[in-house]
Amino acid sequence: MDRIRIRGGRRLEGRIAIGGAKNAALPLMATGLLTHEAVVLTNAPALSDIATMGGLLAQHGLRVEHDTASRRISLDGAATDFEAPYDLVRKMRASVLVLGPLLARYGQARVSLPGGCAIGTRPVDLHLKGLEQMGAVIELDAGYINARVPDGGRLKGARILFTQVAAGATENLLMAATLAEGTTELVNAAREPEISDLAHCLLSMGARIEGIGTDRLVIEGVDSLHGTAHPILPDRIEAGTFACAGAITGGELLLEGMRLDLFGACTRSLREAGVELLEEADGVRARRLNGLHGVDVMTEPFPGFATDMQAQFMALMAVAEGASMITETIFENRFMHVPELTRMGARINAHGSSAIVRGVGKLSGAPVMATDLRASVSLIIAGLAAEGETVVNRVYHLDRGYERVEQKLAAAGADIERIAG
Ligand code: EPZ
Repeated sequence: MDRIRIRGGRRLEGRIAIGGAKNAALPLMATGLLTHEAVVLTNAPALSDIATMGGLLAQHGLRVEHDTASRRISLDGAATDFEAPYDLVRKMRASVLVLGPLLARYGQARVSLPGGCAIGTRPVDLHLKGLEQMGAVIELDAGYINARVPDGGRLKGARILFTQVAAGATENLLMAATLAEGTTELVNAAREPEISDLAHCLLSMGARIEGIGTDRLVIEGVDSLHGTAHPILPDRIEAGTFACAGAITGGELLLEGMRLDLFGACTRSLREAGVELLEEADGVRARRLNGLHGVDVMTEPFPGFATDMQAQFMALMAVAEGASMITETIFENRFMHVPELTRMGARINAHGSSAIVRGVGKLSGAPVMATDLRASVSLIIAGLAAEGETVVNRVYHLDRGYERVEQKLAAAGADIERIAG
């Protein structure tokens, strides 16, 4: 298994290209199941999760081409196989996003229940309840979701109230509603920018959607959707990760392609911590002004502070002046970076869904273990500022969501390398 070795203390500066958002690309790829015409996605990131989704769609029968050089994904053709098998779904829970499109267009789907993951149980009950409200008959059998629309009919529009704000459930039901008969209302819908990006792509395919960017989406079903070409939104989490990396080294980075509005509440938290964020013509400039200050954050659905930025921000707070209270409200087990950061000398006391971080003057390099995607990158951020050498093990977690992270950081001045293992 590959490892990444960092020797801390180097100030980062320069430009870092921000890639297309993983969490936009995955649902956008699923739209290929909603039409037999070509769906072309540009600004596509080369990530293992994207390859996994491509493999699943090919298994369904689509023609899938991913040209990483031109950053283009092309999807074409019709599905001939309606099963998403366990060995693919267990690798990536977002595979469940094929459920809505398969039901909407083919009236049937057999999708493995994703199961939990390191950060939480990650149920899909909201996806299933919404599809049942649209007329799907769903049975759980041997770890699979067996779903069908009775009598070979179509899903029916419905008013679906989410009892909890849920990004994936909103995406699945949004896609299903585009081909349903009648009107669907998604109330208390998630508002992540990736959902708006998906909605805009669906509009360009002929879908009829109102309320984009709000917590109430109204979709008028149509009989069919046509192909499209759609640029994938910049990855706000990758950008926020590099903003923390630059700031912890006292550096300055131009996050190429990023837009400030995509940061949501992270903008205010980073600024209060002492990181200046400036929107420029070709991206967002992130630079450390003076010292870093402890800032309290609570993760919330967008536009609140993103849960996917929690681990990275905690690494930054580990060397800030004063204390920071970090509360994780979205997932039940998203503090696995805490013991690893502690091994590097951070002073963190996690208790339930909150962690108090007391900033220290210096972290010390150490061998640490990656446990999930965002925890992995928080250890790299800490290693950039630590005294001595940090080796992050099990970086396959990292490759799911970050493209060439060590190359991008090295180009900005970090002393970092991947050790093939
Ligand atoms: C998406 O996951 C992202 N993944 C996650 O990013 C992100 O952390 C999460 O949204 C929150 O922003 C992708 O987009 C591929 P949810 P998702 O549905 O859709 C509960 C990363 O690091 N819930 O918004 O699975 C759930 O348990 C990943 O890139 C139900 O109870 O998240 C959680 O507590 C990690 N029932 C909350 O809702 C359901 O049916 C939010 O989950 C669905 C969700």
